[in-house]
Amino acid sequence: MKIVETKKEVREQVREWRRQGLSVGLVPTMGYLHEGHKSLIDRAVAENDRVVVSDFVNPMQFGPKEDLASYPRDLERDAALCEAAGANLIFHPQPEEMYHDDFSSFVDMSTLTGGLCGKSRPIHFRGVCTVVSKLFHIVTPDRAYFGQKDAQQLAVIRHMAEDLDFGIEIVGCPIIREEDGLAKSSRNTYLNRQERQAALVLSRSLAAGKEQIEKGERDAGKVVQAVTEMIREEPLAKIDYVEIVDWKTLEPVKEIDRPVLAAVAVYIGKTRLIDNFIYGG
Ligand code: PAJ
Repeated sequence: MKIVETKKEVREQVREWRRQGLSVGLVPTMGYLHEGHKSLIDRAVAENDRVVVSDFVNPMQFGPKEDLASYPRDLERDAALCEAAGANLIFHPQPEEMYHDDFSSFVDMSTLTGGLCGKSRPIHFRGVCTVVSKLFHIVTPDRAYFGQKDAQQLAVIRHMAEDLDFGIEIVGCPIIREEDGLAKSSRNTYLNRQERQAALVLSRSLAAGKEQIEKGERDAGKVVQAVTEMIREEPLAKIDYVEIVDWKTLEPVKEIDRPVLAAVAVYIGKTRLIDNFIYGG
C-alpha cells in the first residue's frame, strides 16, 4: 500500500490501474479511522479491484467555531488499518494541495442542505460537496462509499452525483456501533467517562422511537416528542435537533407513510454527536 500527498501521484496511479483494466473504489474520510470507516473500506475492497482511501481533514467544511484545530489525527494508525483491510492507496494531501491561495469555486446545493445538520452548520455541506467533487475528479472511481451514520451527507452526495453527472455509483453502508449502542465516531474521543455514559441517550432514545413506529405509531410528532423527552432526562445532553423527515427530500413529515429518516443531533458537554435510523427505506 502506498501513501501519497499529491493529486499528480493519485492520477498517475489510477491511470496505471485503468490501463490494466482494473476497477477503482474510493472511501473518502477525515482520518482517525475506526471500525465504521473500516466497514466502508472492507466493502470497497470486496467490490473493486483497487481501493483508494482519502485521509484529509477538510478545513472548508468546519465552521469558524468548530473543532478543526482539535480534530484528532493519526496517519500512522490509519495507514495500518487501511493496509490490514486491503486498501491500495492512501491520499493524504496537505490543505495547500487541495486549496490554492485564490481558490474560489464551490459546489453548493439548494435543496437537502438547509435542514437537520445544515441548520446549525450553514457552510458545512458546501465544504463537503466541494471537497468530495474534487476527490471524485482526482480519483475518478467507479464507486464511492459513504456511511449512513452521516445520513444527510449520504443523501446530499447521492443527489450531487446525480445532478452533476459524475457517473459514480454511490454506495451507502450501515452504521457501525460500539457494543453498548453508541455509533462509532472519531469525535467520541472527546468524551470523558461521564459523557461517554451520557452519550448512550442518542441510540437509546432512537431505539425507543423506532420501537414505537414498529408497533404501529404513524404520527411523526408523537415519536419526535417521545425521543425528545427521553433525551431531556439526561442532564449532560443538550438537543440540537430531533426530526423525522422524508428520506428522499429530507423535508419534515407529519405522517410516517413513506420511507423516513429519524435523526438526532445532541451536544454531550461540548461534543456534538449525531445518530439516526431509516424506517421503510
Ligand atoms: P468522516 O467523518 O471521517 O467519515 C468518513 C466516512 O465514514 C463517512 O461516509 C461516514 O459516514 C463514515 N462513518 C463514520 N462513522 C461511521 C459509523 N459508525 N458507521 C458507518 N460509517 C461511518 O464524513 C466525512 O469524514 C467527511 O465529511 C468527508 C465525506 C470525508 C468529506 O470531507
